[in-house]
Amino acid sequence: MPGDSERERYERLKREIARHDRLYFVEARPEISDRDYDRLVEELKVLEAAHPDWVTPDSPSQRVGGEPIADFETVEHRVPMLSIENTYAEEGLREWDERVRKLLESVPPSYVAEPKVDGVAIALHYEGGLFARGATRGDGRRGDDVTANLRTVRAIPLRLDPPDGEPLPPLLEVRGELFMPFGEFARMNEERRAGGLDPFMNPRNSTSGMLKHKDPKVVARCRLSFLAHSVGATEGLPVRAHAQLLAFLRGAGMPTVPLAACRDVEAVATHIRDFEKVRATLGYATDGVVVKVDDFRQRERCGETSKAPRWVIAYKYEAEQAATRLRDVRLQIGKSGAVTPVAILDPVPLSGTTVSRASLHNFSEIARKDIRIGDCVVIQKRGEIIPYVVRAIPEERTGAEQPIVPPTTCPRCGTPLVRAEGEVALRCPSPDCAGRLVERLKFWGGRRQMDIQGLGEKIVEQLVAAELVTDIPDLYALTAESLVSLERMGELAAANLLGGIAASRGRGLARLLAGLAVPHVGHKVAELLAERFGDLAAIEGASVEELTAIPGVGEKIARSLGEWLRSERGKALLAGLRAAGVKTTADRPGAPTGPLAGKTFVITGTLTKMSRAEAHERIRALGGRPGDSLTRKTSYLVVGADPGGKVEKAREFGVAVLPEDEFCRMIDSPPPAA
Ligand code: IVH
Repeated sequence: MPGDSERERYERLKREIARHDRLYFVEARPEISDRDYDRLVEELKVLEAAHPDWVTPDSPSQRVGGEPIADFETVEHRVPMLSIENTYAEEGLREWDERVRKLLESVPPSYVAEPKVDGVAIALHYEGGLFARGATRGDGRRGDDVTANLRTVRAIPLRLDPPDGEPLPPLLEVRGELFMPFGEFARMNEERRAGGLDPFMNPRNSTSGMLKHKDPKVVARCRLSFLAHSVGATEGLPVRAHAQLLAFLRGAGMPTVPLAACRDVEAVATHIRDFEKVRATLGYATDGVVVKVDDFRQRERCGETSKAPRWVIAYKYEAEQAATRLRDVRLQIGKSGAVTPVAILDPVPLSGTTVSRASLHNFSEIARKDIRIGDCVVIQKRGEIIPYVVRAIPEERTGAEQPIVPPTTCPRCGTPLVRAEGEVALRCPSPDCAGRLVERLKFWGGRRQMDIQGLGEKIVEQLVAAELVTDIPDLYALTAESLVSLERMGELAAANLLGGIAASRGRGLARLLAGLAVPHVGHKVAELLAERFGDLAAIEGASVEELTAIPGVGEKIARSLGEWLRSERGKALLAGLRAAGVKTTADRPGAPTGPLAGKTFVITGTLTKMSRAEAHERIRALGGRPGDSLTRKTSYLVVGADPGGKVEKAREFGVAVLPEDEFCRMIDSPPPAA
């Protein structure tokens, strides 16, 4: 504008550009063309070139700068980035709603529903309103610092700018999804093809590819977008519910996912059906609806498991399907002897990978769906789960299709198969079955069990075929001489495997128990048992009552474990492991120590002096165990403000009721250890 000083024009340009970013990304109603936008940025750069001292880090010119990055630094998430429980059916949604209402006792929750954006999760840190750092989710606890790449994303504001009068939180970690809109994905793949490069599989893959690119200039050339859906570590955020949070963020210039307020589960179900019809028009990939409890205090009451908060669930729509030819059915034997059919297919691309095998579940399913060899079949993949055969397409039949006949004997050892009462799976009952043994050995050596380096599928097959290993303890008697007799086993590989086996001796009780694959005894239970008893001998000597006294260990588990431990095979296997020098004690030997050892605590209502998570932490630190559901085994019910029906239940069960004050006194000066 004539008469403006250069400085005024510069400041106005900066504001204009930020306003257009907001119009485009937050409000989805751009006022100017991309070209005109670029002109504004060019003009700004010209002014900055003449006055380098005017440039601040939040200037639009500062989105791309610096040189390619050698390596991304690791950053720790102060608040872990958890995942979300999934459901694929309305029934699952309703069960979740019931669980939530039970947890919240008297006050029914309001829900909010948002698209589940199929992007890449990132965390953006704002300090004093300025974008300071951005990180990938990584494993949920630690991610990569990808700040330089994220600065190039115009949808991410470099400065938060709440309306006049609204406070700016000193610290704000915004979380959301980075994604590539379909239009940009198509444009980029066209460019790649023209340049002789392989096109990207899907927008999600190309987004992660871009995010991990070492040169921010390349990232800047593609228009990634971002939608916020939650927050991590924050200080001084003036909101108490999710809808308020998103409104605050939008007001400050941050694009957020669209939100639907739902007063109850009925409204959620209706929204999910409606949204399915419109989601294809959104311009970016979504794979479901995320449903959340709106109120933050209620969320706190719901709590979380180690993997996911209880106040949120993702309803996922049916996944992509593909049609292909079923060529053959192979039989697979599991570690418990279950014989399951696997479909061998003509390879077909599906949701980003090429699929040539799929699950057929079991023979009853095959009969029910009338699937035949040679059929054209529909396959589907959901989440990380392996693809499965949904149905046959009978219209495509030529008459040459062959029925699939369930086996009567084990394909590996010839033993007649059995079907247990009430079960669908066919099972090989022979404890000596080589197929079962292979699976048990693979599981024993698996990463979450004894973690034996070098013990891959091929080697296990060879060891079993050569009868060098007839049960798990034999692994520990292997020698370099016996191993090098195997085909393609050199001295180096043999030494590596022996090293891996030797190292597994010291993994400790919890992993040993998990590795045994006793029915119903998974990792969690194995850890509980190891923590409580500390020694295998103590578990062997425990009664069903002693076992079920552990919260998380029920009758079914205790009985299954007891039977296994008393069986001849079980006893022989454990004797063999002991003889082989495998450690049978826990790293933290014995029952937990501390003044609250052996005591379990359930919290109800809202604590005023600390958060629930902090209270749980204190209980654990003093040797106690925090729990969620009140049972007759609970030692104390801690009661905060607005408690619900649990207090009455505690009285009925004879469980001691502790008001918050008394609880605080107990953890501040705990009773002497028993
Ligand atoms: S809330 C722990 N809201 O989906 C809950 N997540 O599969 C915090 N996602 O890790 C996340 N859309 O990265 C939330 N509207 C939405 C979402 C969403 C996509 C992602 C998120 C999460 C993953 C779980």
